[in-house]
Amino acid sequence: MPALAVVGMQWGDEGKGKITDLFAEKSDYVVRFHGGSNAGHTVEVNGVAFKFHQIPSGILHRRTTAVIANGTVVDAEQLISEMDALEQQGYSTSRLWISDRAQLVMPYHRALDGAEERLRGAGAIGTTKRGIGPCYADKAARNGFRVGELLWDEGRLLEKLKFTVAVKNAYANALSESMQLSAEELLKNMLKWKERLAPHITDTAYMLNAALAKGKNVLFEGAHGILLDIDHGNYPFVTSSNTVPGNIYTGAGINTQQRVKVLGVVKAYATRVGAGPFPTELQDETGQHLAEKGAEFGTTTGRKRRCGWLDLFAVKYCDMLSGTSSIALTKLDVLSGLSSIRVATGYRLKGKLLKHYPHDALLLSECVPVYKEMKGWEEDITGITKYRDLPTNAVRYIEFIEKYLGKPVSVVSTGQSRSSTIVRKGIL
Ligand code: IMP
Repeated sequence: MPALAVVGMQWGDEGKGKITDLFAEKSDYVVRFHGGSNAGHTVEVNGVAFKFHQIPSGILHRRTTAVIANGTVVDAEQLISEMDALEQQGYSTSRLWISDRAQLVMPYHRALDGAEERLRGAGAIGTTKRGIGPCYADKAARNGFRVGELLWDEGRLLEKLKFTVAVKNAYANALSESMQLSAEELLKNMLKWKERLAPHITDTAYMLNAALAKGKNVLFEGAHGILLDIDHGNYPFVTSSNTVPGNIYTGAGINTQQRVKVLGVVKAYATRVGAGPFPTELQDETGQHLAEKGAEFGTTTGRKRRCGWLDLFAVKYCDMLSGTSSIALTKLDVLSGLSSIRVATGYRLKGKLLKHYPHDALLLSECVPVYKEMKGWEEDITGITKYRDLPTNAVRYIEFIEKYLGKPVSVVSTGQSRSSTIVRKGIL
């Protein structure tokens, strides 16, 4: 089966970057199909940490082609600095392709993201302020700029910019934001982007469908967790794209004849950045243990992540939406040293046990988790590469997850580096 997707089964930061990197080695293509520079994927190779926001993390493998597909929103300025950083570290970006249909995050998108958040006040979403929401909103309103439009002649681009600037300045002023955009200044930026990015722009849907038809290995890298999905997540505390693997078909333009196998990445505990309900959140010493040992600070914003127990009720919901074949369990080493560990297996709302994950963020905030308590383990398991070397209670933890989800755990991550990984043969 040539196509594989790596998707996060929580609120992001599950360790998708590392798992993607693991499979990228055997992949001909690694593809981002949604999201933008709000994502932050860390891959550690030989003690050096690489932080990716827009470039698919598979670029570190010299034979892999990296694709930023049509469903993404591209912050050109940020992408160029990411490309520069990689090249300075000796990695070529000649195998990076950007869809001509992806949307451009413009400087005003970032400004408006901040302005709208300020206006929301206590109801702020806690966005990454990377302009993601305003950019996807413009795409849907058909006011966006596509990456392929960078190749337009200057006159045509300036004409569209003049209309856009008038609309954006008026909107910003209505929000009491002092923004005075100039079409000429924006054009200058776009010409700079064109100079650097033009050789990388292509129709990536043709590229990917042709690759799949030839039986090439294609890996799809989910950028954000399923609970942040615009339709299925805890709206409005979500990102602005569909994070479910179903969006691979639209976000990368591959046809529905292609079967994509899904590997669900689950962190051994839960974290969330930004606002929104989090039923298993821990605001005590255990939460502190998870935050410190797990170095839970955002890759993109540096914000401290909220930490809590693994919520299997939520993961099962994500699994229903995703159809995973197996699970990659990450950061299991962070749980070492806890005398007992809890896992949420259901929710009670006003005393009643729920059958379904609630659609409404307010209802979710009123849910009380039902916990299964298990014994922890003292042993440091960092760097373990064989399943049989795990402490008995760690194995029991994994077996409980497998039984609850009805899915095997095929990969266990026991540390940040590429080598600190258990791959259980024959399961994936
Ligand atoms: P936005 O995607 O910047 O609009 O942010 C919307 C919500 O998604 C906020 O709660 C962010 O913290 C969250 N979010 C966006 N990207 C990520 C990510 O890569 N990891 C974790 N949370 C994210």
